[in-house]
Amino acid sequence: MNTITAAITAVGGYVPDFVLSNKVLETMVETNDEWITTRTGIKERRILKDADKGTSYLAIKAAQDLIEKANIDPLEIDMVIMATATPDMMVASTGVYVATEIGATNAFAYDLQAACSSFLYGMSTAAAYVQSGRYKKVLLIGADKMSSIVDYTDRATCIIFGDGGGAVLFEPNYEGLGLQDEYLRSDGVGRDFLKIPAGGSLIPASEDTVKNRQHNIMQDGKTVFKYAVTNMADASELILKRNNLTNQDVDWLVPHQANKRIIDATAGRLELEESKVLVNIEKYGNTTSGTLPLVLYDFEKQLKKGDNIILAAFGGGFTWGSIYLKWAYDKK
Ligand SMILES: CC(C)(COP(=O)(O)OP(=O)(O)OC[C@H]1O[C@@H](n2cnc3c(N)ncnc32)[C@H](O)[C@@H]1OP(=O)(O)O)[C@@H](O)C(=O)NCCC(=O)NCCS
Repeated sequence: MNTITAAITAVGGYVPDFVLSNKVLETMVETNDEWITTRTGIKERRILKDADKGTSYLAIKAAQDLIEKANIDPLEIDMVIMATATPDMMVASTGVYVATEIGATNAFAYDLQAACSSFLYGMSTAAAYVQSGRYKKVLLIGADKMSSIVDYTDRATCIIFGDGGGAVLFEPNYEGLGLQDEYLRSDGVGRDFLKIPAGGSLIPASEDTVKNRQHNIMQDGKTVFKYAVTNMADASELILKRNNLTNQDVDWLVPHQANKRIIDATAGRLELEESKVLVNIEKYGNTTSGTLPLVLYDFEKQLKKGDNIILAAFGGGFTWGSIYLKWAYDKK
């Protein structure tokens, strides 16, 4: 019997229409387009304005886009993994609601939270289920409504994040395509450098936590930056070495879109030419769990069957890692 590998066979994506540009941010906090562009590479981000819509809305839209384009019967989906750091509610699972709304009523679903590495970790999880032979169609969605947790008076964070999401379908492959190798890491030393302090079991919501803005995302940008640069580059380099790949063998780097300078540092370590590094941070900012699938979504047409892709991410926690994937199809 041929070995089963787990391949991505379809991609979908969604970003809300409302554009929050650097120019508009200049009117909200003391910042300017030049500072944001040179420090982060971000020009604009998308914001889900509707107060009555949560992350599930982004996820449903992304999944529906995939289902429509790939002409999939949602009843055939075996499971839905919802990678997100901004679930609709603390309890119940956002993925469960999303699965039902997209008509995947034969599937079971749950959420996976590893901050900005949620989607990368989700790829590992989805692939493992498929490789086990137990499930044939695993839908992995990465989406975040970051505007729901951003403090728009904090200029060090509000310039970075945006809303959006993407989805990929994992299916068995018998040609050796799909996920080849992964290197996933985490370190609790990061807990205090990037967090939403309150609203969990440690510091439950109270009048004070609201007053002190403890339900917003807070970060020590400099420290996060340092760890992100080192760990994303280290993980990607390790994956290349372990698989005897040179920079010539790599067709594409798909990095988490946190900061253009972090992306450049990772690409630089791998000595990759710029044309192989897929970047859309200028349009969307950091959409957390949405970045990797939105890159695949935006650049899907350029990806060819058999292409060697290195994905890399870093997030709060800290969490990080790299995945080596062989692309499985040509987009018609
Ligand atoms: C947040 C980040 C862009 C800040 O860039 P930086 O070069 O580290 O800037 P610093 O924090 O050292 O701040 C430098 C100065 O710019 C100021 N500054 C911060 N945000 C600013 C803004 N939006 N506009 C203008 N000035 C700003 C700071 O107050 C500081 O001023 P000071 O020197 O008078 O104190 C950067 O640290 C970063 O991207 N970190 C990683 C964040 C991240 O990716 N998080 C998600 C991880 S998945």
